[in-house]
Amino acid sequence: MITQPLTVLDHHYQDLIDDGKDVINGLNKNPKTLSPKYFYDDPGSLLFEKICELPEYYPTRTEAWILNQYADEIAVITNCCELIELGSGSSTKTQALLDAYQKIADSCRYLPIDVSGGILKTSVLQLQEKYPDIAIHGLLGTYEQALVHLESNYLQSRMLFFLGSSLGNFNPEECDSFLNQVSRTLQPGDFFLLGIDLQKPKEILEPAYNDSQGVTAAFNLNMLSHLNWRFQGNFDINLFRHQAIYNQVDNQIEMYLHCQKSHLVSLEALDLKVSFEEGESILTEISRKFDLATMEKELQSKGLKTVKTWTDEKGWFGLILCQLK
Ligand code: TRP
Repeated sequence: MITQPLTVLDHHYQDLIDDGKDVINGLNKNPKTLSPKYFYDDPGSLLFEKICELPEYYPTRTEAWILNQYADEIAVITNCCELIELGSGSSTKTQALLDAYQKIADSCRYLPIDVSGGILKTSVLQLQEKYPDIAIHGLLGTYEQALVHLESNYLQSRMLFFLGSSLGNFNPEECDSFLNQVSRTLQPGDFFLLGIDLQKPKEILEPAYNDSQGVTAAFNLNMLSHLNWRFQGNFDINLFRHQAIYNQVDNQIEMYLHCQKSHLVSLEALDLKVSFEEGESILTEISRKFDLATMEKELQSKGLKTVKTWTDEKGWFGLILCQLK
């Protein structure tokens, strides 16, 4: 039985999670970009938990409904295996799966992985108490660090899962290399469970990323506060506005921080000075919206064959269970 709640995947994890090179590259680009992983410092992770509860943000609720409905079926199909979750956050939705696996096996193992140490530790401690028969061990690090670690630490049959449509936050090239890495951490017969947000009208999508209470705006702006503490910066968040638009050509939500006034920003720890023009934007995230058949083909091209898919009654969100050939 594992007693330690957390393993830090790399002793210099903080530097590897955010060594700042990507910040320098992104802010020197035209248009400017920042990596979505900078959303998730501890305050950012708490704001994200609030987003998940917003009336306009349907994905969490919809995916949770699908999981609650079909977790038992998933557990019966995969049977007892090592459960590994990438980007676990608070692991709230995962409890449907843990309940289901507890019913079919005497002992089972759950490894939640996240970049946010605070929320990971809290949720591991809570889950250890709630599920005494499941060995729960958190891994603190990025997806890349986790996948490299998992590749060389193979114990038993696995189900890797990636929920919340986080795959949609990768551009097509990043998505491709991520899926390659996923299939490398699995052995033939292992499972991959993927939650994806599906295409739907702009009128539903845009409010989900621009809620009336301003929580998403605070979450987006928090990225600048994160960079301020992490890299001794002087971003003034009052000089930026949150913006989310649905790009119907690429089927993706694009989130921006829109600069209200020309000014200069410095990040001392990175020895970086950046000038911002009034009206220019930083792209902080894309959230691609998928269709099930195309995604199944893409998974198939990585050797991941669909076993079963599930959706909600409106067909807003999809869950794909696939197996490495
Ligand atoms: N994976 C989530 C999504 O694409 C992440 C997310 C939801 C998000 N709401 C957000 C990221 C708002 C930034 C801002 O839906």
